[in-house]
Amino acid sequence: MKKAITFIKLNVLILSIFSTLLSCKNANKNEVSKIKVPKTKKEQLTLSKGFQLLESNCFACHSPKNPIEDRIAPPMAMIKDFYITNNKNISEEDFIKSLITFINNPNEENSKIPEAIERYGLMPKMNFTEEQITQIAKYIYNSKLEQPNWYKNHFHNEKFIHLENLKNEDLSYKELGLKYAMNTKAVLGKNLIAAIKNKGTEGAVAFCNTRAFNIVDSAGVTLNTKIKRVSDLPRNLANTANKTELDYIYSTKKAMKNNKKTSPLVQEIDKKMVAYYPIVTNTMCLQCHGVPNTQILPATLSKIKELYPTDKATGYGENELRGIWVIEMDKK
Ligand code: HEC
Ligand code: HEC
Repeated sequence: MKKAITFIKLNVLILSIFSTLLSCKNANKNEVSKIKVPKTKKEQLTLSKGFQLLESNCFACHSPKNPIEDRIAPPMAMIKDFYITNNKNISEEDFIKSLITFINNPNEENSKIPEAIERYGLMPKMNFTEEQITQIAKYIYNSKLEQPNWYKNHFHNEKFIHLENLKNEDLSYKELGLKYAMNTKAVLGKNLIAAIKNKGTEGAVAFCNTRAFNIVDSAGVTLNTKIKRVSDLPRNLANTANKTELDYIYSTKKAMKNNKKTSPLVQEIDKKMVAYYPIVTNTMCLQCHGVPNTQILPATLSKIKELYPTDKATGYGENELRGIWVIEMDKK
């Protein structure tokens, strides 16, 4: 009986979160992330480390985006509600302490949400240092992740902001540039797949025309890090590789031809650090970059020709070098 009642409580909570979600659908999509502005660089770095730890260690189970039926644990925002928002006077220090207590020793006694244990089973014990849990706790305490549209509107932005902060840390330019490239690729890929699903390949071409460039650009512009995709056989003339980029493209193509491992390159150019990474095709790409009229269907092809009269980016096979990421970073 007790179980039934706690279930209802949890469902009411879920419902109330959903209704806020609905009422916020008109919120400004371009709103910039509002993390409490940390006073010092050190505090900023702590938050960035907290975000990275949270993303790579906690969101697998506490994902902010899983629909209710796929959940294996409550979303982190809901946990924040229980620990902080509904507990108005809890100080940052006390929240850190309670998180350390629970993560070091997840059990019913240390739990503040027994209904979550009933519903999902106890959280497994994981090994984190107190310093790491403190960083995670500080991020949760100071971020706005309890806002219902946080994931949709802020998550990608958060990723880039915190990467920018980590720049001063231990990452090499090669690793840092790769993270920028992979984050951008994830955003682009997600948008592309969604567009193909909703509008078909033909419709997605038009989408790429206006968007592919914008997303990459806006991520680069806001953050003083320039991110672009270029090619020796560009579809969009704006993505034409320059001499240095061509050198990297040709040497990578040669390595691929000889079945050698490709490797990124980092160079200092005009006091900036510039990193290059290969972009390789897979089957999915061929519906827009493969053999005209067979892999690229006629309707798609005519759309491409209309938007890109000088298109050179067809005739590719699988696992070929389509182009490269070029990431230009300020020096640390
Ligand atoms: C393997 C899945 C998994 C991972 C990874 C995971 N959790 Fe959990 N967590 C759960 C489950 C399931 C619950 C709900 C049951 C419970 O409260 O123990 C939970 C509950 C919690 C709670 C509420 C505890 C309570 O009952 O008061 C906190 C706080 C929490 N997790 C923090 C974290 C943090 C921080 C991380 C990352 C360092 C993390 N979790 C990673 C599965 C996970
Ligand atoms: C729905 C059609 C479509 C699919 C699928 C697609 N692309 Fe493209 N691709 C385009 C369009 C359109 C452009 C031009 C975008 C622009 O104007 O910047 C483009 C541009 C590019 C560029 C920038 C250089 C250039 O030629 O302008 C690269 C690199 C690229 N695509 C790689 C890929 C890879 C790799 C895949 C598969 C993972 C892929 N594309 C899948 C349509 C597509």
